[in-house]
Amino acid sequence: MFQEHGVPSSAALEVSSSTRCLFSSKLVPESLPYLSHIVRAIIAANATWSPNDPLELYLERVSGDIIQAVQALKESRPKPTEDLRSLLAELIQNLADCSAYCTDNSLSYPFDRAQRQVQDVLAIIFPDPSQSESSARKEIVDASIDPQISACIEQFKLGPHTAPRLFNGLWQMSSPAWGSASSAKQDIALTELVRCGLVGTDMADHYGDAELIYGGFRNRLPREVADRVLAMTKWCIFGPLEKPVTPEFVLEAVKERSRRLSGRVELLQFHWHDYEAKEYLQILAELVKIAKAQPSLVSAIGLCNFDTEHTVEACEYLLANLGEVGIVSNQVQYSLIDSRPTVAMAAACQKYGLKLLTYGSFCGGFLSDRWLGKPAPDVYSETLGLTPSQRKYYDMISTWGSWEELQALLKVLRGIADKYNVSTSNVATRWVLDHDEVGAVIVGTRLGVSSNVSDNMHVFSFSLSDEDKAAIAAVNPPEKAKALFDRIGDCGGEYRKMH
Ligand SMILES: NC(=O)c1ccc[n+]([C@@H]2O[C@H](COP(=O)([O-])OP(=O)(O)OC[C@H]3O[C@@H](n4cnc5c(N)ncnc54)[C@H](OP(=O)(O)O)[C@@H]3O)[C@@H](O)[C@H]2O)c1
Repeated sequence: MFQEHGVPSSAALEVSSSTRCLFSSKLVPESLPYLSHIVRAIIAANATWSPNDPLELYLERVSGDIIQAVQALKESRPKPTEDLRSLLAELIQNLADCSAYCTDNSLSYPFDRAQRQVQDVLAIIFPDPSQSESSARKEIVDASIDPQISACIEQFKLGPHTAPRLFNGLWQMSSPAWGSASSAKQDIALTELVRCGLVGTDMADHYGDAELIYGGFRNRLPREVADRVLAMTKWCIFGPLEKPVTPEFVLEAVKERSRRLSGRVELLQFHWHDYEAKEYLQILAELVKIAKAQPSLVSAIGLCNFDTEHTVEACEYLLANLGEVGIVSNQVQYSLIDSRPTVAMAAACQKYGLKLLTYGSFCGGFLSDRWLGKPAPDVYSETLGLTPSQRKYYDMISTWGSWEELQALLKVLRGIADKYNVSTSNVATRWVLDHDEVGAVIVGTRLGVSSNVSDNMHVFSFSLSDEDKAAIAAVNPPEKAKALFDRIGDCGGEYRKMH
C-alpha cells in the first residue's frame, strides 16, 4: 500500500475508505483489524514520507479515523470481552511498533493522537488501577502569553475565574471530516492561541480526543502559563441513566473528565437529554457541591443547551436546596442568525447572574467575507467539501430566512466592517459580544488545519455604534429571533427533538 515515497497507493485509499464505512455503520470492533493492518503495512513496506506530502496527510487522516472509531467505542461502552481487549491491544502494539519505526527512520510519527485515544479507551473499558497515568508534568512546550498582543482582550468573570471573551472551541476534533492534523501541528496552533492570550478552550466528553489534546498540551506548559489556561469541558447525558444518581456516580463522572484533562476542570458544563426525567436537578446539586468541596478537581459548573424554563427551574432548585445558584453559565447557540437567547434567556441570565458562552456565532464561517456575493452552496457537493459545521448552520440559515436575506445581511456587515477596517466576521462576533448576558463567544477551531486567530483578535479593536446596530436591525429585525423561537423552540430545543 505504501511502496512509493510520500504517496499512498490507490489500494491504501480503498482500504481506509472501506474501514471508514465499517466504523461509521457502528461496526467498530470489526474495523479495528483493518486499522491495525494499515499501521502494520507502513513498517512492512518500509514506507517513507516528507513533511506535508500526500502520504503524511493520508496517515494523519488515518490517525483521525482511529480517533473517531475509538470514540464511538467509548460512547457505546461495550462489554469488556477478551476479544475486544485483544483487538485494542493489537492496535496499541502496532502503533507502538510504528512509533519505533518512525524514530529509527527519522520520520514524523503521525499517530500520537490515535495512540493516546486508544490508551484512553482501554483505561475506560478495562480499568486497571496499577496502570494509572503519572501526573508528572513534562514541560516541553515553549509557550508564553505575549503581554502586548493579549492586552486588548476583553475579560469577564466566570465563577472564580477571569476569562477572555473569546474561547477556542474543539468540536472540530470530533471527526476527520474537518481535516486532521498531527499532535506536532496542533501544538503549534495551540501555542499561537496561548501567545495571543486565548487561554480558554471549550471541549466535551464526546469531541473525539479534544480533552486528551488540551490536557496533554496544558500539562506540558510552563507552570505560570498552565495556571492561566482554562479547560472547559462537558458532561453530556444523551439518554436515560442506567444507574441511580448518587454522590459517587457524579464524582466518578467528574473524575473521568479530570483524568482526560490531566488536571482540573475549570468549568464543567452539563447537558441533559430529557426535561421530563428530573434527575438532572439532583446531578446539578451534586456537581455544585463537588465544585465547592474539591475545587482542585472542578472549579465551576455550567449548563449546556438548557432552555430558559429549565434554566430557571435549575437555579430555583439550587437556591432552595443549597442556598445559592451555584452554576455560572449556559452554553447556547447565539449569532446574528440565531438570536433566540434575546427572547427569554437574556433576562434569566440577568436574574441569576449567569453568563452565556455562545457557539455558532460565525455560523460555521457563513458569517464571513468568504460567502459575501456567493451563490448558495450545494451542501451535498463532494467537491465543495463543506464542513459538518457548515452543514449544521446552513440548515439554521434556511430556518431563519433565505440565502438572499443572508446576502443582504452580509452586505450591511461588510459596510460596517469597512468603517472600522475589520472583517465581516469581526462585526458579527462584536454584535454577539455586545449583549450583556454574553460572557464569551466560542470560536470553532480546526487545530493545525486552519487558523483565524489574527483576524478574530480584531474583534477587540472597535465597538458598534447605535447607527451600526440600527443598520443591522433593518435587515435582520428582532422579530426574526422571535419567529425562530416560535418555530424551533427556545435554546437547545433542536437537540432534544432529536432524542
Ligand atoms: N454545546 C453545543 O451543542 C455546541 C454545538 C456546536 C458547537 N459548540 C462549541 O462551540 C464551538 C464553536 O461552534 P461551531 O464550530 O459549531 O461554529 P462557529 O464557531 O460558528 O464556526 C466555526 C468556523 O467558523 C470559521 N471562522 C472562525 N473565525 C473566522 C473568521 N475570522 N473568518 C472566517 N471564518 C471564521 C472557521 O472556519 P474555517 O475553519 O474553515 O476557517 C471555523 O471552523 C465548537 O467548536 C464547540 O466547542 C457547542
